Amino acid sequence: MKILITGGAGFIGSSLALFLKGRHPTFEITCMDNLHRRGSELNLDRLHEAGIHFYGGDIRFPDQFPDEAFELILECSAEPSVLAGHNSSLDYLFQTNLVGTYNCLERARTWKSKLIFLSTSRVYPIAALESHPWVEDVTRFRWKDSGTPGMSSLGVSESVSMDGVRSLYGFTKFASEGLIEEYRAAFGLGAVVNRCGVIAGPWQMGKIDQGFVAFWVFHHLFGKPLRYIGYGGTGKQVRDVLDINDLATLIDEQITHFEAWSGWTGNVSGGLNNSVSLLELTEICRNLFGKELPIERAAETRPNDVRIYIGDSTRLFQRTGWRPKKTVAETAAEIARWAEECRTMLEPLLDPAN
Ligand SMILES: NC(=O)c1ccc[n+]([C@@H]2O[C@H](COP(=O)([O-])OP(=O)(O)OC[C@H]3O[C@@H](n4cnc5c(N)ncnc54)[C@H](O)[C@@H]3O)[C@@H](O)[C@H]2O)c1
Repeated sequence: MKILITGGAGFIGSSLALFLKGRHPTFEITCMDNLHRRGSELNLDRLHEAGIHFYGGDIRFPDQFPDEAFELILECSAEPSVLAGHNSSLDYLFQTNLVGTYNCLERARTWKSKLIFLSTSRVYPIAALESHPWVEDVTRFRWKDSGTPGMSSLGVSESVSMDGVRSLYGFTKFASEGLIEEYRAAFGLGAVVNRCGVIAGPWQMGKIDQGFVAFWVFHHLFGKPLRYIGYGGTGKQVRDVLDINDLATLIDEQITHFEAWSGWTGNVSGGLNNSVSLLELTEICRNLFGKELPIERAAETRPNDVRIYIGDSTRLFQRTGWRPKKTVAETAAEIARWAEECRTMLEPLLDPAN
């Protein structure tokens, strides 16, 4: 199996490359990346040591793809922040997340390869999430059950109404999903689309707008200031979390039983049982590091933020015996162990001057 992983030096791309190479030593894996994300360059040595090829290329440009054909493209490249286009270049966002998807699809069409696409829960409209009734518990906000189709206390399912805005980032991913659907219909492309909630684990270069579990752990480890931003500064906003190893196990199943999975578009999420609020994550970090960090409160909510995101993966569970295994606390502990080992490498990443 010859696999091209676009965004292959990033958190998910490099982790999947290493997991797949470990499980299937005969797989020939090439990781393509333009190293746009700060910290992705730190993955290159371990990819090399595992016998994974690195190819410096930018998916915005068709002539920067490798010439040789691959049997599978695992599309993990993106400008992945929900604030993209607000705090960074709009042009980069669209060229990478939308034109880049088109360029991958064109390669898949000419190479006759399969495609696995990492989509996001951010395809769901913000208003649908924000207008759903919720209650405030001691440590978190919680969705109530109500009659809204596709929404319940268990989370958002694929049947929620897709009308409304979803952030520029969410739009690029939703439009990419639509493009993939067209390629499936027009050219018989075999494609799997995973709508991921938050994915977390070691080697995630967590920053304020993406990778919040690693970001929270780093700040506790290095004793750097943190803030509860938005929703009155309560720290009660909630996300579900899926460990990178659990995601890799599922993607391995999708690769090895591709025909059964081809055509799938749906939620891949940690779910209610594996969800956490910032306040609860602070408690996890306090237990891990045995110290308490003063955390400021910034009441104002940032653009595109959502009070709660929990993905309902019922449809996924109907098609596979795969289930998330690692708890948020276990994932945070693994991130903490890794960050402690790689302290000198990671600390400069937290310095905004770099
Ligand atoms: N991490 C999460 O919680 C999460 C959740 C849902 C969906 N996703 C999706 O998963 C994918 C991977 O996310 P991640 O967390 O690994 O992000 P990441 O930023 O760690 O990795 C993305 C990689 O893509 C590379 N890249 C960016 N622009 C590129 C370009 N034009 N050409 C080539 N490479 C480029 C970056 O350098 C980086 O190495 C993304 O598509 C993201 O939207 C991630």
